[in-house]
Amino acid sequence: MYEVIRRDEIVPNIHLMVIKAPGVADKAKPGQFVIIMPDETGERVPFTISDWDREKGTISIFFLEVGISTAKMARIQSGGKLYSVAGPLGIPTSIDKLGTVILGGGCYGIGAIFPIARAMKEAGNRVISIIEARSAYLLYMEDSLKEFSDRLIVSTFDGSKGMKGSVQKVLTKLIDAGEKIDQSYFIGCTFMMMKCSNVTRSHKIKTLVALNPIMVDGTGMCGCCRVTVKGNTKFACVDGPEFDGHEVDWQELFARKSLYLKEEAMAYQTYR
Ligand code: FES
Repeated sequence: MYEVIRRDEIVPNIHLMVIKAPGVADKAKPGQFVIIMPDETGERVPFTISDWDREKGTISIFFLEVGISTAKMARIQSGGKLYSVAGPLGIPTSIDKLGTVILGGGCYGIGAIFPIARAMKEAGNRVISIIEARSAYLLYMEDSLKEFSDRLIVSTFDGSKGMKGSVQKVLTKLIDAGEKIDQSYFIGCTFMMMKCSNVTRSHKIKTLVALNPIMVDGTGMCGCCRVTVKGNTKFACVDGPEFDGHEVDWQELFARKSLYLKEEAMAYQTYR
């Protein structure tokens, strides 16, 4: 069992969870994830590791309450327990000195881009972070990202803070204004990652996305997380989660992610 040190709903429906998991904290690198089982009979759900403290032996994740598993997690208070935390999983982000790096995040992805922003900044890159939310009250991590970004650009769909629009819109404006971008990286909802990849494709900007298909074992054995990249079948858990956004078969990913939507919605609605 893994102790939950802290669980806070930091903005409506988005939770920060700090978990005592020394084995994971000791090895965690930017871009990696854990698979959590909230209880003994729960499903296994992947979450990007947003931060870690090797001395305290803790890791931090951000999650949205979207189904039964995350509803169970959202009810755990400080001092509560998780049945299983497996990780760190996945290939870490390659951190190199590249020049100007764009990081775009939405929803849980705002927290997920943080360790990459920090590592990229520490590697000597010029880091531009772009975050999006439906409205100002759904934004978080601004100060943390500011610390490791040369520029933090905030966007909201309703225009209540920062630029009105999305990561994709900010990205387009930056490119149109002549910003030279050496690499871009997007984490968040599949739609946002696809749209941003479409923008950078025409400008030949290397683009990485962290895919989040359905996962079970997280070690390459079940095949649930398969995605098609450049015409080849890949397992997001062991070959990713990071892939070239210009090579991903997005339509297949949408279809596979929505396989159990009806069942998940029914189960969540009737969960007590
Ligand atoms: Fe089973 Fe990736 S989650 S193969």
